[in-house]
Amino acid sequence: MRQVAFLTVAVLLGCAAYQRGEGLDVESVPAPLRADYELFARRCSRCHSLSRPLNARISSEEHWREYVNRMRRMPSSGIAADEVPGLLRFLTWYSAARRSPDGGVGGSR
Ligand code: HEC
Repeated sequence: MRQVAFLTVAVLLGCAAYQRGEGLDVESVPAPLRADYELFARRCSRCHSLSRPLNARISSEEHWREYVNRMRRMPSSGIAADEVPGLLRFLTWYSAARRSPDGGVGGSR
């Protein structure tokens, strides 16, 4: 019986850790880009998890621009046109950092 209780707690803790693990550790984002990251985390987690954009094989700014505009044009996306530059700033930094040889950014899943 005690073992069951222990397992339940372990599973619950696991879930909590997973939810915090969604997205990036904000500490790994350079200070000037943190506001852009927060915006990204709010706007781009509405319809799918953040891992969708974070794991996408997209690396050029042009390509990101297409995606962000496509997402923005969906009904009730909640993304304003003047938020696009900030979103692109974070996304282009992120895809460059991810490709860097030292493994880039940690904490994405
Ligand atoms: C209004 C809902 C909505 C919002 C908000 C939204 N998305 Fe999406 N996203 C979708 C849907 C639906 C799909 C799957 C269909 C498609 O690919 O068009 C998708 C797919 C994607 C994909 C493709 C993933 C793949 O596997 O090819 C990427 C990348 C993406 N979204 C990035 C973003 C980014 C970046 C943002 C924030 C700027 C964002 N999304 C915000 C609805 C949304």
